[in-house]
Amino acid sequence: MRAIGIREFGGRDKLELLDLPEPRVAPDGVKIRVRAAGVNPVDWKLREGRLEPRFPHVFPVVPGWDAAGVVEEVGPAVVELAPGDEVIAYCRKHFVGEGTYAELVSVPVGFVARKPETASFEQAAGLPLVALTAYQALFFSAGLTAGESVLVQAAAGGVGSTAVQLAVDAGAEVIGVASEANRDHVLALGAYEVVDRDGDVAAAVRELVPEGVDVAFDVYGDETLGDAVRDGGRIVSIAAPPTYRERDVLPSYVFVRPNGEELDELARLYDDGRLVVELQEVLPLEEAARAHELSEAGHVRGKLVLHVSD
Ligand SMILES: NC(=O)c1ccc[n+]([C@@H]2O[C@H](COP(=O)([O-])OP(=O)(O)OC[C@H]3O[C@@H](n4cnc5c(N)ncnc54)[C@H](OP(=O)(O)O)[C@@H]3O)[C@@H](O)[C@H]2O)c1
Repeated sequence: MRAIGIREFGGRDKLELLDLPEPRVAPDGVKIRVRAAGVNPVDWKLREGRLEPRFPHVFPVVPGWDAAGVVEEVGPAVVELAPGDEVIAYCRKHFVGEGTYAELVSVPVGFVARKPETASFEQAAGLPLVALTAYQALFFSAGLTAGESVLVQAAAGGVGSTAVQLAVDAGAEVIGVASEANRDHVLALGAYEVVDRDGDVAAAVRELVPEGVDVAFDVYGDETLGDAVRDGGRIVSIAAPPTYRERDVLPSYVFVRPNGEELDELARLYDDGRLVVELQEVLPLEEAARAHELSEAGHVRGKLVLHVSD
């Protein structure tokens, strides 16, 4: 099968087109013919070797943890899905190697959900990792509830734009943090105010909500966001375990987990028109290096996706 992978850690020049054996299917596994693969910052971080201390790597390493495609084969213990079903999956396993920049990927059935019917394969491929991250951070870790206020950093990016929509849908009041160029975009997603990423974010939030917000969602590791949180509030980070201890603010850290049931719920929200995936650009699989270049530049609005097969 065709895949894009690396034989050693390094720069974008290490990405090459490979002809690899098809992945095996576990008894409880699902083999997916990948139509589109979402691109996430973790893809180039793992290409650089930054995940090496945490996960075993099997070379050649094929990056990519997001897939949308069609079930090709199921293991003998799988009853939930059958060949031909259109699915999505967040494909992070206990090792790094057999990723989704490939024509076929195998994952445990528990990672897989039905593709939203109203989404293209490309839109659907942009959903799993970012939507599960936002969902688990806001509702599982920070316990956000209706009527609360939440500050979302990097609100125009993949995770942030999903978090804004999910929080608004849950009845929370959202303040986004973004560059001036993305202000209108974040307002259109449902935030009631946007503060400029280049200013003093906590001071700007305190002008809007003097007592501080209930929850801050820290996407890039800016602990000054904790200053925008009320006493007794929560700050959840996906950058690193926060050390925020100066006040009565509860810190937590999320590393997104595969979860097919949660993904099914997120796909339903998509089909109900309550969650949208905006695509910045769809590139052919062969242009994975260009996709990494765009992601590494740090100005992605919505999602980058690779078209893998027809
Ligand atoms: N722990 C986890 O499980 C987990 C899961 C998913 C993602 N992540 C991490 O979360 C981060 C965001 O992921 P993503 O998919 O949302 O990325 P993304 O789509 O590439 O986000 C890009 C947006 O973030 C903003 N941004 C970029 N650099 C920033 C910085 N240093 N400070 C503040 N804002 C910045 C920019 O918007 P503006 O120009 O408007 O500021 C840009 O449009 C990445 O580092 C990723 O690895 C962690």
